[in-house]
Amino acid sequence: MNQQRKILVTGGAGFIGSHTITALVSEGFTPIIADDFRNADESVPARIEKIIGYMPEFIKIDVCDKEALTHLFEQHAFEGIIHFAAYKAVGESVAFPLKYYRNNLLGLINTLELAVQFKVRNFVFSSSCTVYGEPGEIKEVTEDLPKGLAASPYGNTKIIGEELLRDVHQSTSDLHIACLRYFNPIGAHPSGMIGEFPIGKPNNLLPMVTGAAVGKYKQLTVFGDDYPTADGTCVRDYIHVMDLAAAHVKALAFLQSGTSSFETINIGTGEGTTVLKVIQVFEAISGEKLNWKFGPKRPGDVAEIFANADKANHLLNWYPKYSLEDSVHHAWNWEKKLQHD
Ligand code: WQD
Repeated sequence: MNQQRKILVTGGAGFIGSHTITALVSEGFTPIIADDFRNADESVPARIEKIIGYMPEFIKIDVCDKEALTHLFEQHAFEGIIHFAAYKAVGESVAFPLKYYRNNLLGLINTLELAVQFKVRNFVFSSSCTVYGEPGEIKEVTEDLPKGLAASPYGNTKIIGEELLRDVHQSTSDLHIACLRYFNPIGAHPSGMIGEFPIGKPNNLLPMVTGAAVGKYKQLTVFGDDYPTADGTCVRDYIHVMDLAAAHVKALAFLQSGTSSFETINIGTGEGTTVLKVIQVFEAISGEKLNWKFGPKRPGDVAEIFANADKANHLLNWYPKYSLEDSVHHAWNWEKKLQHD
C-alpha cells in the first residue's frame, strides 16, 4: 500500500477541487494537485494551506500537455485520481464548442491513458446532471434514466466522457471508475478561506445573488416566472460544496474496497428548491433586501430536476450534512470576506 496515499487531483485549484483537497487531507490522503490556474485563482494554494496546515504539492500543468503529465506520473505512485480539470460554462460551450471538446476530452484521455500505463487503480470522474438533458416528466432522476440529448457541448463532453470511461473499464477491468453526477454545487468552506471564484460575471444563481447583494451587479434577474412549478420558477437540487467534496472521498474509499468498478452516481440532496425560495432564504439569512426582477426564460433551462440520491446513500454510505440555509450562509460569508480581501 502506498503509505503516502497519494491522490492526483487534476483541476484541484478550482471551486469543487479546492474543497475536495481539504476533505482528502481530513481523511489522511496526500493530494497532488495539477492545475494551470486558467479557471482558478492563484491565491487558492495559500488559502488551502491555512485550512489544512501545510502547503499541498501544486504543479502548474495543462492536462492537455501529455509530456508534462507523463513526467508527473513518473514522479509519483498514485493510489487514485480525481479528474476535475475541464471547462464548465454551459453558455460559453455553445459559443466555442471546439474549445470544450478539445480541452475536456483530450485532458480526460491523457489522464486516463497514463492511469492505465502506470496502473493506477481508482479513478473518480467529475460528471454532471446535465447528462440527463431535459428529463421531461421525470423530475427526480435516477442513474438508470437514459442520458438525454445534451443541452450543450459542455453537457456532451460529460456524456462522451462517461462512455469513454465505460469502454476503457471494459477493456482494462482493473481500473475501478466512479462517475459522480453533480447537481448544483453551492456554498463555501465554513472557514470562509475558500469558495467560488467566478471568472467574470457568473452564470450560476448563488454567486449572482450574493454578488448583487454587495453591489457587484446592479440587479439579479430571475429567468422565467411561469414554469410548471410551485412558484413558477425553476427547481434545482442545490448541494453544499463540502458535501460534494465528501462524496469524492467516499467514492475513492468505495473503489478501493474493490467491490464493483464502474458506477455512475448522482450526488445531490434529493430535494428540489425554486429560485424564489433561494432568494427568500438569502434575505432571511443576510437580512438584506435583494434587488431582483423577473426576466425572460434562459434558453436551455429545464423546469425542474433534482437527484434521487439513493445509490450514493447506499453504495457510498454518503449523506449530505449541510442544509440549504448552511450553504447560503457560507456563500454569503465568503462573498463578504472577498470584499475585504
Ligand atoms: C439555476 C437556476 C436559472 C442565474 C449549471 C450548469 C450545470 C451544473 C450546475 C456543472 C436556473 C436560475 C440563474 C441567474 C436565474 N454545473 N438563474 N438568474 O443552469 O441549473 O446548472 O450549474 O456541472 O452543468 O448548467 O445552474 O445556477 O445557472 O441556474 O434565475 O442570474 O437559477 O434559470 O433556473 P444550472 P444555474
